[in-house]
Amino acid sequence: MTSVSDFSEQKLERASFIREVFSYIHRFKGQLFILKIEDSLMNHPLFPVLIRDIIHLHRAGIKVVIIPGTRKSIDDQLKVWNIDSSFHEGVRLTSEAALPLTELASLGVAQKIMSYLTADGCRGIQGNWISARSLGIIDGVDFMRTGRIERIQKDILESLLAENFIPIIPPIGWNKLGHAYNISSTELATELCKYLQVGKLFFIGNEDGVHKDGLITGPKTQYLDSNESGIVSAIDIEQAEELLSLNAEHLNYAQKDYLANAIRACKAGANRVHLVNGETQGSILEEVFSGRGEGTMVYANQYSCVRPASIDDIPDILQIMQDYIKKGYLVPRTSESISKQLSDYVVYSIDNAIHGCGALHCFEDGQTAELAGVAVAANYRSSGVGDVIVRHLIATAKMRGFKSIFLLTTQALDWFYPFGFRDGSVEDLPQSKRESYNYKRNSRVLVLSLENS
Ligand SMILES: CC(C)(COP(=O)(O)OP(=O)(O)OC[C@H]1O[C@@H](n2cnc3c(N)ncnc32)[C@H](O)[C@@H]1OP(=O)(O)O)[C@@H](O)C(=O)NCCC(=O)NCCS
Repeated sequence: MTSVSDFSEQKLERASFIREVFSYIHRFKGQLFILKIEDSLMNHPLFPVLIRDIIHLHRAGIKVVIIPGTRKSIDDQLKVWNIDSSFHEGVRLTSEAALPLTELASLGVAQKIMSYLTADGCRGIQGNWISARSLGIIDGVDFMRTGRIERIQKDILESLLAENFIPIIPPIGWNKLGHAYNISSTELATELCKYLQVGKLFFIGNEDGVHKDGLITGPKTQYLDSNESGIVSAIDIEQAEELLSLNAEHLNYAQKDYLANAIRACKAGANRVHLVNGETQGSILEEVFSGRGEGTMVYANQYSCVRPASIDDIPDILQIMQDYIKKGYLVPRTSESISKQLSDYVVYSIDNAIHGCGALHCFEDGQTAELAGVAVAANYRSSGVGDVIVRHLIATAKMRGFKSIFLLTTQALDWFYPFGFRDGSVEDLPQSKRESYNYKRNSRVLVLSLENS
């Protein structure tokens, strides 16, 4: 049976989830998301749901451009007409005979997406704003009617986005003479990041993301954050490069392709590039509206960091601590008590949303500091956030020349030992702390010596 306290916990969780969603909507409103959607998803029963989720994003004020993937539809068309098609390093060689079918397949896929958008009352618009030229002959391989992007008509796209349209761009480009070329939709999505200011680029396909299990890691990827399904959640460009170079054998083609293009897109100007599985219900919403989504994200700029707390962070700090204060894990704090010692506090933020905090208080002897108020939001526990905060505070204490750090804890003894803390006693505390020690609470004292460390 569900108890009253279970109900109020559920309500609190729901409220904090809604708050998180609002904060993300606020942040992403007006930003541009480019979505490359694999055509292999189009016959999946959840495809209309995926399109509906994209429409929700659009209605929340996010600008959207859709690039349909066309590989499967082109293969199907060519098969019907018994035309062979080959690839060189993942790029299709498009013959003269294959080109009309390629165009047909590309436009067909775009048309299908357009129908779904229209059925939901959204204004999709299909067009070709891409100038292309022949890829030519590379290393003796003739790519025939496969082209590369020369220019994208940025102004037209920007006006359409300002008018609230959802542009759908099939991967066909034309040269000045009106000859069509088959271009890669992945290249198109990536190239758009050079022309438009892109908040997020999504590769939506049948891959869950990059699985952490079995990955060979190097100095930059020793610690990889993963979600509940074991998918690497977020990595920066350097980590993506290291994973690619160390795991050529381990990653599958789609994962390697994603990482390589994500690196390229980030370098071209995209802030975040996500790989999500369109076959999983709600994956795109999860990816947008939670700090650690369903798939893998490569980010260009700082994504998570520990930084000094500001006055605006106090409500978030209190919210994270609230539950632990109620359970007696942390001593009570108020807005006033935190603001008095604000410069002692740091927060851990992901995409500017706060998920953890901690503080380092100094004492009269100038030799000892107290590590206090370390807390991690319930849905971010066990992902290394606490570890990052504590290591940051220990490094700060060393830098500021303290000889030792102490802390008082009732519930997290075992968690602190691996940092090098050892059992201490009330006698180890600086005088003012000794005088205010609460014998009723009976917290354990742990001490970490910073000398010779
Ligand atoms: C203790 C706390 C800060 C750890 O943060 P975190 O980000 O979840 O920790 P990390 O991800 O770095 O480490 C997770 C590991 O520590 C373990 N762990 C978490 N809390 C623990 C505790 N109280 N005692 C012992 N081990 C603990 C987890 O089981 C996990 O182990 P695993 O990696 O083998 O699965 C967090 O759980 C918290 O906010 N607790 C409530 C507040 C509190 O007690 N603060 C300390 C008082 S100053």
